[in-house]
Amino acid sequence: MPHTLSVDAPEQGVRLITLQRPEALNALNTQLLDELAAELALAEQDAETRAVVLTGSRKAFAAGADIKEMAERDLVGILEDPRVAHWQRIAAFSKPLIAAVNGFCLGGGCELAMHADILIAGEDARFGQPEINLGIMPGAGGTQRLLRAVGKSLAMQMVLSGQAIDARHAQRAGLVSEVTLPELTIERALAIARVIAQKAPLAVRLAKEALLKAEDTDLASGLRFERHAFTVLAGTADRAEGIRAFQEKRRPEFTGR
Ligand code: CAA
Repeated sequence: MPHTLSVDAPEQGVRLITLQRPEALNALNTQLLDELAAELALAEQDAETRAVVLTGSRKAFAAGADIKEMAERDLVGILEDPRVAHWQRIAAFSKPLIAAVNGFCLGGGCELAMHADILIAGEDARFGQPEINLGIMPGAGGTQRLLRAVGKSLAMQMVLSGQAIDARHAQRAGLVSEVTLPELTIERALAIARVIAQKAPLAVRLAKEALLKAEDTDLASGLRFERHAFTVLAGTADRAEGIRAFQEKRRPEFTGR
């Protein structure tokens, strides 16, 4: 039973994970990262779960790594930091992950949001990497994923100045796909998750993997992977069902095979 987050099943095929450390603006301590990684592993294993929405509170998606916990770690503690393994487990999640972001989305919180495949933000969301103000730098993918998302100039500005950007700026820069009224952010993320949950699971999984390849491989390798994945899907029952349903003018019933 997790203590730092709640898990609901608001739609068929969709899990909603809500970070719940209101006393620390959802700062990501070891326990929270451990519990989040464990919940994603459960969602990974559950064939019924087709997509996950991750959210925080209206005031904060997450205000970063837990600075009070960081204060207790010396260099040896950092080298043996169990959170590194938790981050790796979160990054390995292979089903669609949608972040519904309101309020502060800072430091490790922004890095966590960037682990999501789709980001939906409320108008009041603020994205930033303020680690430089603490004499450190992002350590959970912030320099790499932010630059890939928003480009060099804005990533440099955010990481080196520590200054945050608002939701509209984040959308213009490509970090966020949609901006909503803050009270509609989760609803919108769930609606997108519901649509994805109805698609053929193998196609969704391979399409996500292929899209992520574009971030860390050259074009020729990415195209090779895409062709391979496309060929794999050609042998699935869901491809046959999708084409048959189109011809019969009905909704497809995908089985994940
Ligand atoms: N860690 C631990 N506690 C935090 C926290 C954090 N990252 N952010 C906020 N809190 C706590 C505050 O200490 C406070 O608790 P107390 O009442 O017990 O003092 C409570 O949450 C509410 O916060 P504030 O009173 O500060 O709320 P505010 O509305 O005045 O300010 C804020 C909000 C601007 C987000 C401010 O809290 C803030 O600057 N937080 C730190 C943001 C930050 O620097 N994040 C980066 C962390 S380093 C990192 O993430 C490293 C990495 O990449 C892995």
